[in-house]
Amino acid sequence: KKVAVLFGGRSSEHEISLRSALFILKNIPEKYQIIPVGINRSGMYFSLEGFFKSKDFSESTVEDLAIIIAGKVPKNFSGKRNLKSLLLPYIASEIQNDSPHFTYSSSSNQEKYRILNLDASCFFPVLHGQNGEDGRLQGLFELAEVAYVGCDIRSSVVGIDKDLQKRLAREAGVGVAKYEVVDIEAFETNLQNTLDCIEKNIGYPCFIKPNALGSAVGTGRAKSRGELEKLLKEALSFDQKALVEEPMVGTEVECAFLGTAYAPRITVAGEIATKDFYSYEEKYASASEAEQFIPARLSPERMKELCEMARKVATITGISGLCRIDFWNCKNSNQFIFNEINTLPGLTSISMFPKLWEQEGVMGAQWIEETIEGAYL
Ligand code: DAL
Ligand code: MG
Repeated sequence: KKVAVLFGGRSSEHEISLRSALFILKNIPEKYQIIPVGINRSGMYFSLEGFFKSKDFSESTVEDLAIIIAGKVPKNFSGKRNLKSLLLPYIASEIQNDSPHFTYSSSSNQEKYRILNLDASCFFPVLHGQNGEDGRLQGLFELAEVAYVGCDIRSSVVGIDKDLQKRLAREAGVGVAKYEVVDIEAFETNLQNTLDCIEKNIGYPCFIKPNALGSAVGTGRAKSRGELEKLLKEALSFDQKALVEEPMVGTEVECAFLGTAYAPRITVAGEIATKDFYSYEEKYASASEAEQFIPARLSPERMKELCEMARKVATITGISGLCRIDFWNCKNSNQFIFNEINTLPGLTSISMFPKLWEQEGVMGAQWIEETIEGAYL
């Protein structure tokens, strides 16, 4: 089988995608041939149809993937890495439009879909956030009738929309934090009323986040009206809608999912204890002060309760393939509060998803194979 592994993308989580893709490329079983497909920030695709194996990426770094995305080896690239020697036959110092192995799309819309002409039997979008994780690409795959790994259109759309999935959870009796939705319209035309309403219903401190973004991009904590306005403006620069949430006192507890909504396999939860809040920096900086506990520090009864809730969320959101389901373990109420699903969970070296499966004895190669074999057609 030839598997096209997609990374980068037109998303505020572009860099994280490279780190996640590295995990897939290094762990995908040898029996699959790999077509690496880098997507740049304008949505251009660069693919290498040299049919690599996972071992070809054993020494690769994020920089190597960035090189694929750039479509050329920069002059100052001096690494003695495997990938460079593999790439050189295909890449001259400039992009070769007519290179038989190295194809790329121009930025025109029609050309973008050349990706579908790749000789791949399965597409693996290792893309986070907008355009890759939000249902758009999944729609393209469906229309083209090609197999793809992960969640389908509907659950991807639900997964990118924090407001929508909270509503679904609440309806099903799964607790969510108190929050208000602010859209650009309300912010621009009715700001004072909007702020009054948030102060009345949520108060300070409160958390502001774009509705449809991941990795804590554009999020922050407000302790005053001035800060609230500033952070809303920031969040609304990323998205049409922002959420303002009550602060959660406690730790984040997360379960990993494989399978289908009706036959979900859920890991025990892991726990992330942060000093302040789990920012982009906290998430990905190596000197992060966040502490991880796998499994989470919960009694067997409470762990069971949490896994049941995760199972319920899987069913109501309709996820399939792979996903991570996040909750808060609230210190004051001693209750679990659903936070969100992540339909393409982070797969960086510090990410929970691979660690949680490893704790269950399921290594990367195994779940990657499972998701490829279970790909949609
Ligand atoms: N959106 C990031 C990658 C995550 O939730 O893991
Ligand atoms: Mg997320």
